[in-house]
Amino acid sequence: CSHSIHDLLAGRVPFESSVTVQGWIRTRRDSKAGLSFLHVSDGSCFAPIQVVAPANLPNYTTEVVRLTTGCAVIAHGKLVPSQGKGQTHEIQADRIEVVGWVEDPDTYPVSAKHHTFEYLRTVAHLRPRTNTFGAVARVRHCLSMAVHRFFHERGFFWVHTPIITSSDCEGAGEMFKVSTLDLNNPPRDAQGQIDHSQDFFGKPAHLTVSGQLNVEAYCLALSKVYTFGPTFRAENSNTTRHLAEFWMIEPEVAFADLATNADLAEEFLKYLFRAVLEERADDLAFFADRIDKQCVNRLETLTNAQFERMDYAEAIRILEDAQTRKSASFEFPIHWGADLQSEHERYLTETHVGRPVVVMNYPKQIKAFYMRLNDDGRTVAAMDVLAPGIGEIIGGSQREERLDVLDTRLEELNLPKDEYWWYRDLRRYGTVPHAGFGLGFERTILYATGMSNIRDVIPFPRTPGHAEF
Ligand code: 4AD
Ligand code: MG
Repeated sequence: CSHSIHDLLAGRVPFESSVTVQGWIRTRRDSKAGLSFLHVSDGSCFAPIQVVAPANLPNYTTEVVRLTTGCAVIAHGKLVPSQGKGQTHEIQADRIEVVGWVEDPDTYPVSAKHHTFEYLRTVAHLRPRTNTFGAVARVRHCLSMAVHRFFHERGFFWVHTPIITSSDCEGAGEMFKVSTLDLNNPPRDAQGQIDHSQDFFGKPAHLTVSGQLNVEAYCLALSKVYTFGPTFRAENSNTTRHLAEFWMIEPEVAFADLATNADLAEEFLKYLFRAVLEERADDLAFFADRIDKQCVNRLETLTNAQFERMDYAEAIRILEDAQTRKSASFEFPIHWGADLQSEHERYLTETHVGRPVVVMNYPKQIKAFYMRLNDDGRTVAAMDVLAPGIGEIIGGSQREERLDVLDTRLEELNLPKDEYWWYRDLRRYGTVPHAGFGLGFERTILYATGMSNIRDVIPFPRTPGHAEF
């Protein structure tokens, strides 16, 4: 029976108890007095525990003094108050078992010295042993659990939407093909091109870009639902905000409009960040100290601030004004009808408002087919939540529930109506107004931790050309 270091440091076990911890050596320091101080981490919390190994241990000279960063050990001993700086507890060891040695300490890829994040991406299998990546993993877990708690407490049902699909939710054609074809001898069309309509045992198939269309079907039966799973985008984006495989949370609510949707998004984000503040104070203290001084402040401000709501048209006026007054110079000139680039998003949320902004009612030509057409005939009931330092973190909308309007939109966009037959059925049988959104999970973690590259907040990042590990 062993103890988690988290339980020991949280005071769940009384001093003078016999305890056992199992984990990996962070550092070893030998004192002149004939003792070794081992910092052992098991990942259960940010801090390692100090294990004091006296020289009279039977394996002291043969093993203990040969321990290096990364070695796996089991330490038995007595839990005592620590005199050391910055630690409350330590273990006076009476036995140390070495379970796994580090073969060649000089070339151990995550030795105790400083490594750049670029380098650590090349050793993604070992980086969870570092302070930063351990902390990111715990924050990621905390956020995942908070997602489910939030929806469960409000009567939403979690729906598992498929990964393999033939629908293109965003209509942007950014999908990975799934193929069972024999690539040495694939079926070809009349032009000699590979016939991808045969990909999935005779039918076309892709990896999903979003679970939305499927979750809408469950929404129109269970009223309040959400998905939380991996989604895939085959866009060749090499930015610090894009992954080819990322996780998305997509709630969908029946009998709801855009205003309700924006309120839900605001309440949800605040709930998530409050959970991190309450549950991961140790990891946040590290991020605030080493990664981004503003990190805790920003979360506290966000959980207390009222999110601004602003029409797209108003956003454009603000940006155009900044452009004319030359208080901002944009690489991409802005005008009504243009999509907001990240520089515009940052200006709005960081410079103009100074807190998160929900931009609503975008021109229909820059948004997806399923968004509800407004009465003006040129905008749709879309919303994006923009967060300072990140830009777009949520994209959502009220959905087009009117079959005739949806059909016109599909035709305008040249989308194959018959392939959306089941989605159209939902508008033929008991259709109701409904709305939902997608929260990019990794962008949420970026916001919570102050990490600057999305590749560093997912365990094994997939970006163009990178699928190792
Ligand atoms: O704005 P998006 O494309 O919206 C949808 O997919 C809708 N079907 C969601 C819905 O209404 N149910 O994506 C939603 C969010 C973005 O705001 C962003 O945070 C994140 O997903 N996202 C990405 N995150 C990482 N890498 C990428 N390539 C991303 N693309 C979108
Ligand atoms: Mg979007």
